[in-house]
Amino acid sequence: MSAISLKAIRKDYGSVNVIRRIDLEIGSGEFVVLVGPSGCGKSTLLRMIAGLEEISGGDLVMGGRSIGHLPPAERNIAMVFQDYALYPHMSVEDNMSFGLKMRDGDPADISRKVKDASAILKLDPFLARLPAQLSGGQRQRVAMGRAIVRDPQAFLFDEPLSNLDAALRVEMRLEIAKLHRRIKATTVYVTHDQVEAMTLADRIVVMNGGNMEQVGPPLELYRRPNTLFVAKFIGSPTMNTLECDVTGHGEGRIRLQLPAGEIALPLASASTGQGRVTLGIRPEDLAVCEPGEAWFAGELSVVERLGSQTFGYLDIGGERMITVEFPRTSDIAVGQRLCVAGRPEHVHLFDPASGQRLN
Ligand SMILES: Nc1ncnc2c1ncn2[C@@H]1O[C@H](COP(=O)(O)OP(=O)(O)O)[C@@H](O)[C@H]1O
Ligand SMILES: [Mg+2]
Repeated sequence: MSAISLKAIRKDYGSVNVIRRIDLEIGSGEFVVLVGPSGCGKSTLLRMIAGLEEISGGDLVMGGRSIGHLPPAERNIAMVFQDYALYPHMSVEDNMSFGLKMRDGDPADISRKVKDASAILKLDPFLARLPAQLSGGQRQRVAMGRAIVRDPQAFLFDEPLSNLDAALRVEMRLEIAKLHRRIKATTVYVTHDQVEAMTLADRIVVMNGGNMEQVGPPLELYRRPNTLFVAKFIGSPTMNTLECDVTGHGEGRIRLQLPAGEIALPLASASTGQGRVTLGIRPEDLAVCEPGEAWFAGELSVVERLGSQTFGYLDIGGERMITVEFPRTSDIAVGQRLCVAGRPEHVHLFDPASGQRLN
């Protein structure tokens, strides 16, 4: 397996720039997930690595050599797509072996590779079937099998689970995690699903409008998002964010006016924009408190009991809603008035204008 370096990679379609500049070192055997909203350039970046899309600027290096100019077939990279792209008139076995046969591989060798991949992916009972005789999950396994038999330097996945129903998506996610542990392939995986990103990635790359917002291990992005965009994108339910007035700062502290009270937080730098900051706090970092300590107060307008978790949506006035995670056995009810507060160390502060983290 090979390391992949993206050096100042850019993409323009005519006069439209869709990838600004991507610098990213992907380690050998690493599982990197590109995540971001639709249209942010994930597929374009993946297709440039695969060689399906021309690179407008910068350099792509794999296994120590520049490969940006090579056609897809010479890059030794396998790509798995959302729509599987199987040959409908070929059996599972033929779908997996076809690419190798086209390259004049040794028949005994091809047969062994297909057997190995089929065993890893539990496809043995289906080898003689046509794609139409398979479930969505089985078809996606065949698509992965076709990638594995090529013994590539790297695997690329473009939203491979998007066409599957929710239960199957979870199952296939586990399969992909196990597969990666087993074959330790360098992998770049594209998804818009932050749960897939959190569960599969060694490192996540959050993309936004053709830029990288932040790169890091899943929990680092969760605990310390560098921008408001990452804060809102990673985590479910999403982080509560609220713009509020700065009422004072000095001696490494800042005072903020929250809807139900004033709070003081540690903040080294005094660069707090124009006297306003955006405060972020996750639902699980809020808890019911005495009225004198409240950050937010309001009426519970919705209660969601998911079994293992309970969420309440607190209407704090002015069309604003705060999500709070309650203990799962909590007896909260819609219509109840509550006061909630968090702890200063769980607060994320952002510059409202730039979205950059302040604390
Ligand atoms: N062939 C193309 N010509 C012009 N613009 C394109 C082309 N393909 C993609 N784009 C644009 O590039 C941007 C990124 O697209 P894409 O990489 O498919 O996003 P994602 O996979 O993150 O949803 C989008 O704004 C899209 O409209
Ligand atoms: Mg896409």
